[in-house]
Amino acid sequence: MTQPSFDPKAFRAALGTFTTGVTIITAQAADGSQVGITANSFNSVSLDPPLVLWSLAKSAMSLPVFTDGTYWNVHVLSVDQEPLSGRFASRGEDKFAGIALDDGMTCAPLLPNCTARFQCRTAFTHDGGDHLIFIGEVLGFDQSDRPPLVYQSGQYALTARKPREEVRLTKAEPPPECSYTEDLLGYLLGRAHFQMVNRLQGLLQDQHLDQAQFFILSVLCIRDRLTLDEINAYIGYTGHRVDPSDMQVLMAGGHVVIEKERYRLTADGREASLHQIAQAKAVEEDLVQTLGLGDALALKLLLKRLIERTDPGLPDLWAVSA
Ligand SMILES: Cc1cc2nc3c(=O)[nH]c(=O)nc-3n(C[C@H](O)[C@H](O)[C@H](O)COP(=O)(O)O)c2cc1C
Repeated sequence: MTQPSFDPKAFRAALGTFTTGVTIITAQAADGSQVGITANSFNSVSLDPPLVLWSLAKSAMSLPVFTDGTYWNVHVLSVDQEPLSGRFASRGEDKFAGIALDDGMTCAPLLPNCTARFQCRTAFTHDGGDHLIFIGEVLGFDQSDRPPLVYQSGQYALTARKPREEVRLTKAEPPPECSYTEDLLGYLLGRAHFQMVNRLQGLLQDQHLDQAQFFILSVLCIRDRLTLDEINAYIGYTGHRVDPSDMQVLMAGGHVVIEKERYRLTADGREASLHQIAQAKAVEEDLVQTLGLGDALALKLLLKRLIERTDPGLPDLWAVSA
């Protein structure tokens, strides 16, 4: 066979653009020891009969166990199993330490908490260059609603589903002279923020609090005994500037007291704040239901990245003070 003179790095990089899930494939050796490797070469082959395939590097330490044995399990990993993927991508060490396995149909180890699992028996193997291709008959499978982990161009990724129809907030075409469209990121972020926060508005009205006071209580709920300057350092990014008269209102309402120029929540203030957090969590739960957990995780990840990139240098509210 003529060997094309590929640059191996470029070839790998081009192959890596083919986005996949991540699996761990496990088997048991005749002496009872267990092997497992992270593999993204997994794919479906046939529905009837039910066949799947994957390929194993001939250099893998686990190769003899897979070639000598008959049974193996494919675990499609969920987003929160990234550490497990790392563990099974390393060579040698005891990869199963501390894992409570599920009972399987065969001797092959069955890992818990996956997005899907396929219990297989080797049907054929084929030579595949520096890899050996395993084609397996699926003896049994199961699936959960955990969102899958994704792998693209050498990095783990999250998926955000793309609806069949394009999402458009307006049905109208913007006038040609108007460059302010619904796709402006600032508009999307601002509108999403206000639409979510507005769902807290009823509670804040019942508590006779405005948005700035809500921010102050939230900050004091996380980190008590702050000076006015410290409160302002934490919430300055919202555009609100708190002055002593704002704090007077909170003190008059019985939410806050001042001791040695430091403000702290009263029991009533803490309770008001806990109600707000409970309401915010209920709003979030609704949203996760609507979006699906995978999309919600992807959204949070992107927002965190954006916040990190645009951080004006806010003090860390959650850091334990010295
Ligand atoms: C995301 C990802 C996908 C991988 N896919 C494969 C694969 O399909 N086949 C393979 O042989 N190795 C694959 N590997 C590498 C193996 O997991 C790695 O070489 C492992 O250490 C082999 O274990 P062993 O040498 O203990 O058998 C992959 C690694 C990662 C991180």
